[in-house]
Amino acid sequence: MKVGIVGAGLVGATAAYALTLRDSCSEVVLVDQDTERARAEALDIAHASPISHGARVSSGDYPDLSGSRVVMIAAGANQKPGEGRLELLDRNAAIFRMVIPQVAQHAPGAVLLIATNPVDALTDLTVRLAPDHAVMGSGTVLDSARLRYLIAQRARVDATNVHAYVLGEHGDSEVIAWSTATVAGLPVAEFMRARGLPWTPEIRAEIEAGTRDAAASIIGGKRATYYGIGAALARITERVLGDRRAVLTVSAPTPEYGVSLSVPRIVASGGIEASILPQLTDDEKAALERSAAVLRETLARVE
Ligand code: LAC
Repeated sequence: MKVGIVGAGLVGATAAYALTLRDSCSEVVLVDQDTERARAEALDIAHASPISHGARVSSGDYPDLSGSRVVMIAAGANQKPGEGRLELLDRNAAIFRMVIPQVAQHAPGAVLLIATNPVDALTDLTVRLAPDHAVMGSGTVLDSARLRYLIAQRARVDATNVHAYVLGEHGDSEVIAWSTATVAGLPVAEFMRARGLPWTPEIRAEIEAGTRDAAASIIGGKRATYYGIGAALARITERVLGDRRAVLTVSAPTPEYGVSLSVPRIVASGGIEASILPQLTDDEKAALERSAAVLRETLARVE
């Protein structure tokens, strides 16, 4: 199956590489206005194909997206040190108004997966620009992975045995939904108590900060993030291609909040099959409403 990626920068190229290493698809096409960058990234990844799983990797233009089952959109500016995701909106919305109509024209029937920040607002904008396509944003899939990683370190277990969700904005107002967090099926605090491991408000606060501030910390050290988001994009894509009905906190229009944000959703070949609004504490519900309010205010700027 074929996957298109528009934007051959660090995120798009890393997502392409992740797809080939995970044997997620048989063909990847990279499209970028910087055609030389797209050509070079595709060639570099293609050279690994005899060693990885043999996916065909190439670069091209919008017509070459034809036949794609999923098209990732990773085009646009990324955060600079000290810059917030929401500050990217005007620049990247202008890019989307050029890019999305061409993707929609040449990849009818493809699921559009938005990676560019601010991902929630750009997911909403893409829904407007491509009303006939299934659209989702990477949302807080990466944030939920970061939260699971940090809990797993404290719980001294494999992160795949930790389930936890970050909800709302992929950004500063995101909600760490502790009431959804379990380790080996037990609420985190019960697991830690059973294992005789420390679990204090300070440890929770440290994990929350480590989740919420992860991008800023990484960008401060190497000016961009791309391995985490690249893996998240590959995971979402292969769950669509495989019709796996995986539960992922992707971003999509959420009528209860009047804006695109992240809640757990069942992801399958046609896009999102269902959304599951978790049972939250009153504090978590209030935080999610505040996050939705931030996103509604942001979206109003895109009109
Ligand atoms: C991050 C970018 C993808 O959180 O927003 O690393």
